[in-house]
This record gives sequence, C-alpha cells and structure tokens, in this order.
Amino acid sequence: MPPTIAWVDGRIELVDQTVLPALRVVAVGTVEELVDAIRRLVVRGAPALGAAGALGVALAARTLDGTELAAAAVKLAEARPTAVNLGYGVQRALAAADRGPDAVLAAALDVLAEDVAACHAIGRRGADLLGELCGPGPLRLHTHCNAGALACVDWGTALGVVRSLHGEGRVRYVVADETRPLLQGSRITAVELAEMGVPHRVVVDGAGPSIIARGLVDAVVVGADRVAANGDVANKIGTYPLALAAARAGIPFVVAAPESTLDPATPDGAAIEIEERAAEEVLVVGGVRFTPPGTSAWNPAFDVTPADLVTAVVTENRVWRPGA
Ligand code: MRU
Repeated sequence: MPPTIAWVDGRIELVDQTVLPALRVVAVGTVEELVDAIRRLVVRGAPALGAAGALGVALAARTLDGTELAAAAVKLAEARPTAVNLGYGVQRALAAADRGPDAVLAAALDVLAEDVAACHAIGRRGADLLGELCGPGPLRLHTHCNAGALACVDWGTALGVVRSLHGEGRVRYVVADETRPLLQGSRITAVELAEMGVPHRVVVDGAGPSIIARGLVDAVVVGADRVAANGDVANKIGTYPLALAAARAGIPFVVAAPESTLDPATPDGAAIEIEERAAEEVLVVGGVRFTPPGTSAWNPAFDVTPADLVTAVVTENRVWRPGA
C-alpha cells in the first residue's frame, strides 16, 4: 500500500479512499481540489485530515500570502467540521507563514512525522493497557470504521494497537463493523487487517452489540475524531452502541487517539459539531436506490460516546480514564 498522504514534487499524493479496496493514487495541486477531496473522503480519518490540512496550507503558501493565504487556510479548516485534527494541522502550518513557503512546508512535514511517531507510541501503550485489563491474550477485539494507517499518515491508532498486539502473537481475531454508509470497515479496515495477517471478520453494524453481548469480544478499541475536555468522544456513527454494549458486558472500551485529537476548547460532547452528510449516501447502495421515491434519510457521520462509558483514552503521552 502506498503512503496514505505524501508531498511529491510540489503536489499532495493521496490514496483515493473512495475506491478502496481498488488501489488508485491521486495527485492534488490546488486548495480547491484538496477541499473537494476532503469533502468526498478521498482522504479521511482524523490524523490524515490533520496532515492534509497542513500540506494544503503548504500548497497555498507557494502562491499566496497575507490575507489570501489566511482565507485559503479557513477554507481548508472548514472542509469538514468534526475532526479537530483538520484545524490543528492547518494552524500548525499557518503559524510558519511569516517565515515563507519553505518554512510552511517544513512545519507541515513535521505534522506528518509527529503523527507517525504518535501512532507507534499509542500502539505500544494501548497494547500494554489491554494486557493489564484483559490479560495476555490472544485477545478478541472489536473495532469500528477505520482507525488504521489509512486514517493516519502510517501505522494507525486503534489498528496501531492491533499491530503491536499482533506483533507479539496476542490477537485471536478482530471483529470489524462494516460501517455504513460508506463501508470504511469493509473496504479499508479489512484491507489493513488482511495485509497484517490478522484473522478478522466483518459484521453488519447492527450485529456489533449483540456479538459483544454473546461474550465473543474481550475489548473494543476505536479511534476518535474529537475528544472533548470532559472526555466525551466523537467518532464514526455507530461507535456509541458498541460502548453501551461493552459497558453492559463489562469489557473495556478503549479509545486510541493522538493528543492532537484532544480538544480542551470544547467542553463536552454536546458542543461538538456533528457532520451531516448527503442523504444519498444512505439511500443509494452500489448505485441502486432501494427506498421509494420521496423517502429521505438522516445521515449524521459521527456520534458521541459519553465519558462515563470510556474505559480509557490512550494517547502517545498517557492513559487518561475520563470515566473513572
Ligand atoms: O468519516 P471518516 O471516515 O473520516 O471517519 C473516520 C473515523 O471516524 C475514524 O474512526 C476516526 O477519524 C479515527 S482515525 C484514527
């Protein structure tokens, strides 16, 4: 698999995540193209969006400065609302603007390098934590959406934990929710687990809680798009039911995320803006509309898991137990 996101000859190369498991790499050369790619989920996942935002500012800084550069940065930061990393990456790169385009690019590349290091540290710390909570294993894990290398610059957060455990022979299997409507679980997480050689099964989202209730899972491990100051966690729609099921079953619900996903400026989950996406994503499956004409849909892209259901948030620096 090529890198999720990379700076190549003055353009941003992205693995096009709308067509996975088919492989296509696209090159983006303008802010407008990048905003479109972010909105269409060509690049997706909170840490990868942070990298995209930072490289987008580097792209803009080659031709713009002053208020024009600031306006381009706002467009990038507002391309999607929920993942705090997007604005974080934009701001990190923009902070170097008065030192010129090369300094902006260097700051953006720092964001990418830091994300890789953070994911490795999260993977190690998360594996140790699951050892403490569940014993040495091999463990039966459950994840949702894709919090792997393709949601980050490399390695992954929740799947970084799986990588670390798998490297020690401590994974029995991973249950991956398919993650309606855009199937990040089936199309992306399953690809990463297969590449790692981890035994796995995809389940429909509605099956996840009952699989946990049947005692078939030792721990849930997911990523996050934004963690509020009180520990409420926004992640892909369908995460909250897993947290409820985990609490009921008495198994750990662990959130793996870099410090850049923690947002002290947002007091709680109610203050997190939840992206509402097009109804068509729900109503049309594989190009076929299954609902009668006139039926519409709600399509919130994320939900909020309250802090009291979160066993731990594992970052590159610490294990935080907001619910304790
Ligand atoms: O809509 P997406 O695919 O960008 O949503 C991604 C998720 O919800 C991930 O679980 C989250 O960003 C964590 S990625 C390490």
